[in-house]
Amino acid sequence: MECFPRQSRRRLLYALSAAFIFVFFFTQFHIRAGPGQARRPWTYGTRSLADDIYNTTLGFEKIFVISLPSRTDRRDGMALQAALSNFEFEFIDGVPGENVPDKAIPAKKKDRASNGVIGIIQRNLTSALILEDDADWDIRIKQQLHDFALSTQALIQPLAARPNSYADPTYPSPPTNMDPPSELTPPELDFHHLPTTLPATLSPYGDNWDILWLGHCGMHFPFPDTPIPQGRVIRLHDTTVAPKRHLWGFTVPFTLKETYPEHTRAVHHVQEGVCTQAYAVSQRGARRLLYEVGLKDVTEGYDILLRFFCEGVQGREEGRQCLTTQPGLFQSHTPVGKPGSDIGAADGEFRERAMTDMVRWSVRLNAAVLMKGRVEDVVDQYPDEEYLGGG
Ligand SMILES: *[C@@H]1O[C@H](CO)[C@@H](O)[C@H](O)[C@H]1NC(C)=O
Ligand SMILES: *[C@@H]1O[C@H](CO)[C@@H](O)[C@H](O)[C@H]1NC(C)=O
Repeated sequence: MECFPRQSRRRLLYALSAAFIFVFFFTQFHIRAGPGQARRPWTYGTRSLADDIYNTTLGFEKIFVISLPSRTDRRDGMALQAALSNFEFEFIDGVPGENVPDKAIPAKKKDRASNGVIGIIQRNLTSALILEDDADWDIRIKQQLHDFALSTQALIQPLAARPNSYADPTYPSPPTNMDPPSELTPPELDFHHLPTTLPATLSPYGDNWDILWLGHCGMHFPFPDTPIPQGRVIRLHDTTVAPKRHLWGFTVPFTLKETYPEHTRAVHHVQEGVCTQAYAVSQRGARRLLYEVGLKDVTEGYDILLRFFCEGVQGREEGRQCLTTQPGLFQSHTPVGKPGSDIGAADGEFRERAMTDMVRWSVRLNAAVLMKGRVEDVVDQYPDEEYLGGG
């Protein structure tokens, strides 16, 4: 009677140790086959950092929305859009220009937008996305950001096969002599055949960036004679890109529109960005930005200062890592009948139709459809024959 339970206890022990050994080897094997191997982490079924872009903060640690407390209309709009896209965010109170006490301003004027950057430093966040309160985006934003991350990683992560080099031969330090190797053909990577790089470990967007300038109203490809890496990732047939006749920007020439086919998206380093509807800042970027923009003479608008920062001009240090995409992924939404904003002067025109430039499946304009769960009824603001139907 006594020996039976002991035997069964021993059997249980054997079974448990076998299970333990099995689990141990299985997980070891998986760890080896995972990040250690020279394959793109996101091609594996196992979880990777890039999957975090689908989380409620888009792969950043936080999302801040800069907004004046008095603009309840904008706050309501943003809260609804964020809920429909499954984002979590925090409002950061903007300060209207005239309320900033003079003593707080190094030289002339200081923009309210830097509040988000201070938040990143004070709360020791690894990164945050800072949005203007009138920003709108495509329903497919998470997929767009995921693809953006594949592109930034291809540009700034070391190659898996040769960890001392990068796919972009001009990264991290472009040639400084007077004959840039290929003024006419900057290093171009095809989005559909990106090189295999070492997986990022700090941020899904890559381990070495200061700013990701995601919403703008104009951007150049890097000029060949600047100390900015020249590489670009080009994606043809991106169905989220509006037809060329709807693309615009304040920068001239608009090379993406003038030299690439319809529905091309580009990812590259920042040159002469205009407007800041959305930008992400890493902890390192926030510290550098506060030093270079917050503590030095502030003589220009915030977007111009961000540009100086990224390009290392006007007394700012070189070598900042600022990446962007054309067209921008976040754009200003202009509601019906409400011209102007708090920053610029009202242009006086009454708008008959709400719109968001260059965003095809606008979250804001499809809010009613999304609330009803009728994704098949989503309205494309900028359809064209080729890309109509089929989805
Ligand atoms: C989303 O992913 C980022 C990057 O890994 C992480 O820092 C952040 O905490 C995540 N957000 C949430 C809400 O889990
Ligand atoms: C900030 O976070 C980093 C890791 O993300 C940590 O090493 C550091 O100690 C933190 N600093 C403070 C002041 O909490």
